[in-house]
Amino acid sequence: MKIMAFNGSPRKKKWNTVSLLNNALEGAGSAGAQTELIQLYDLNFSGCISCFSCKKISRKKDGVCAVQDDLTAVLDRVRKADALIIGSPVYYGCESAATRAFLERLCFPYLQYAKDVRSLFPRKINTAMIYTMNVPEQTVKLMGYDQLFERTKKMLEMHFGPCELLLSTDTLQYSDYDKFEAELFDKEAKYKRHAEVFPEDCKRAFELGVRLASGKVPERVQM
Ligand SMILES: Cc1cc2nc3c(=O)[nH]c(=O)nc-3n(C[C@H](O)[C@H](O)[C@H](O)COP(=O)(O)O)c2cc1C
Repeated sequence: MKIMAFNGSPRKKKWNTVSLLNNALEGAGSAGAQTELIQLYDLNFSGCISCFSCKKISRKKDGVCAVQDDLTAVLDRVRKADALIIGSPVYYGCESAATRAFLERLCFPYLQYAKDVRSLFPRKINTAMIYTMNVPEQTVKLMGYDQLFERTKKMLEMHFGPCELLLSTDTLQYSDYDKFEAELFDKEAKYKRHAEVFPEDCKRAFELGVRLASGKVPERVQM
């Protein structure tokens, strides 16, 4: 069982998204999975360039993206992975730019414009999206973020297999709120939540990792 995780935050150490991903991978590791964390912001890659090589009639239908950059080797390893976990901070109500670019390159080569089989990915595997965001839980729906989360979940389900969502809201944005502009925020409430609720989010991420490592998915399902 090989699980790959992708950090779509430019903050690569200790911060919210990567902490949750590390917890998920620890959980997966504790259940016997082999794990790998990819820092998307360490890679030089672009989103889909719309070359449509992956849609040519004459192509080999293997879902391989024709673009050659730092993502090429990573996408090659994805083909052999048994589960994928993608973590992203919410930036302006969307995934971070690197996450979005990654999702385009991850999914589009597998997409078939065909009526029967929509995905060329050879197996059905479990996936998960972990989102971290500044807004509190009750604002998620108000801001329409729930629609973004559901849309990405459906996209991963169409291409790969079942997708679990894990949301971590009202995250700590700065380590020291006195050093940055933060008039809008109740800094003491932010520190308190980070101390009390974020560890619970990490625990949920750990459990997600355990589930993914032990989750059974059908050998081959046509999507
Ligand atoms: C450019 C930028 C845009 C952001 N936009 C939003 C937003 O639209 N909604 C939100 O809830 N948080 C927003 N945030 C806050 C981050 O989503 C939040 O702090 C997140 O937990 C950061 O993850 P990290 O600690 O892993 O980097 C934004 C942060 C940045 C830097």
